[in-house]
Amino acid sequence: MTGNESGLHAIESASIDELRSLQLERLKKTLNHVYENSPVYKAKFDQHGVHPDDLKTLEDLSKFPMTTKADLRDNYPFGMFCVPMEKVVRIHASSGTTGKPTVVGYTQEDIDIWADVVARSIYAAGGRPKDKVHIAYGYGLFTGGLGAHYGAERLGCAVIPMSGGQTAKQVQLIKDFDPDIIMVTPSYMLNIADEFARQGLDPDSLSLRTGIFGAEPWTEAMRTEMQRRLSMDAVDIYGLSEVMGPGVASECIETKDGPTIWEDHFYPEIIDPVTGEVLPDGEEGELVFTSLTKTAMPVIRYRTRDLTKLLPGTARTMRRMGKITGRSDDMLIIRGVNVFPTQIEEQICQLEGLSPHYQIEISKRGNMDSVNIQVEQSHDAGSKDPSYLGNELSKLIKTYIGISAAVEVTAPNSLPRSEGKAKRVIDNR
Ligand code: DLL
Repeated sequence: MTGNESGLHAIESASIDELRSLQLERLKKTLNHVYENSPVYKAKFDQHGVHPDDLKTLEDLSKFPMTTKADLRDNYPFGMFCVPMEKVVRIHASSGTTGKPTVVGYTQEDIDIWADVVARSIYAAGGRPKDKVHIAYGYGLFTGGLGAHYGAERLGCAVIPMSGGQTAKQVQLIKDFDPDIIMVTPSYMLNIADEFARQGLDPDSLSLRTGIFGAEPWTEAMRTEMQRRLSMDAVDIYGLSEVMGPGVASECIETKDGPTIWEDHFYPEIIDPVTGEVLPDGEEGELVFTSLTKTAMPVIRYRTRDLTKLLPGTARTMRRMGKITGRSDDMLIIRGVNVFPTQIEEQICQLEGLSPHYQIEISKRGNMDSVNIQVEQSHDAGSKDPSYLGNELSKLIKTYIGISAAVEVTAPNSLPRSEGKAKRVIDNR
C-alpha cells in the first residue's frame, strides 16, 4: 500500500509544486462534479455568479461560496449526496447539539481513500503492520470507530475493535492482548488510565507504545501529562465527519508539532470567521476544507468552526495545522473575556495534585457571569489540601486568562466520565 522504500506514499514526499498541481487538477474535477451532480451546489454557485471554469488557480477557490452545517441540515438527510444511492455504501451521522444529525455518505472509492489516509496517519504515528491496534473510539454512526478500524486494517495491523465503554474490560484486554497502539479520545484515555491505577497496574508494565488521540481538543500540557503518566507517546489525529472522519490530518511521531494535513485529499484554507476573508498561512482563524477526491458527498469550502492556523510542513512537505484551540461555538464569553476550555485545561495541568478531569459551569448572578470550575484531585495528590489547590488554580486562571473563577477541588473519581467526547462546559446562562 505504500509508495516507496521509506514506507511513505510517493505524494507524502513529493515537491510542493507537484502537490499544488495535483490539487489544482483534483479541485477542478471536484467543482465540476458537484456542479453537474448536486442541485444544491449548482444553485449556490449560480447565485454567487461563479462557474467551475472560473477556477484557473488554487487561489481562485476563494471566489466560490462556502458551505456550512446549515446547508447539510437544510438538505437532511441525503440532499447533499452527489451520486445515486446505488453508489453509496456507507452512511454516518454526527449528533448535533440541537436538532437533526448531520448525515454523510460514502462510495466504495471514498471508503478506500478514507482507509488509506487513516493507514497513513497510523504509519505517521509509528504504527507498522506487525502492530496490534486497540480501538476505543465508539463504533456506530460516529466516524471514529469504523474510520480508525478500516485504516488500521488497511495498514495490515491486527485490529482489536473494542469501541467505547466497559472501562474495566478495556483494561483487561489491554493487559491480556498486549496492543502496541491505542486509538481513543484523550478524555476517555484518562478514564482508562484511572482504571489502570484502580487495578494497581503500572503503565510501564503494559505493552502500549503510542496513543493516537483526537475527536476533541486537547492541549500540549495534556500531552505532557499523558505521556508522563502512561509512559507512551501521544499524537494528535484530527478530522470531522462532514469532510471524511478521522484522518483528515494527523501528527508525525518524529516531530509531534501539529497534525499534517493530508493535502492531496483535503484542501485547507484559514478564514477570518467574521468577514470570511482568506488569511495567509500562520494567521489564526477558522479552518475551511474542500475535499479533493470524495465522490458521494464532496464538500466545497466547508466551515469547520475549528480555530487554528496553517503551518509549513516539517516531517512531510504537506502543511500542518496548529493544535486546535477550540471551536468558535465553544468559546465562552465571560464578562467580555473570550475563554476556551482548553485554556483552563492548560492551567489545571500546571498544578501538581490536580488531575485533568474537570467541568466548567457558568451561570448568571444578577447581570454578572459567574464561573465555577470543578476539578478532581489526583490519586497521587498525597497530603495536599484541596482548598489550597483550589486557590492556587483560581490564581493561575486570574493571572493567565484574566477571569475570576470559583474552583472546587473534588475527590478522585467524583466527576462524570466520558466514554467518547468529554462535555467540559455547562452553560446555564
Ligand atoms: O470527531 C472525527 C474523529 C474521530 C477525529 C476520531 C479524530 C478521531 P465529528 O464527530 O464530526 O468527527 O467531530 C468533528 O471534533 O470539527 C473538531 O471540533 C473536533 N475534533 C476532531 N479531532 C480533533 C482534534 C470526529 N484532534 C469535530 N483536536 C471537529 C481538536 C478535534 N478537536
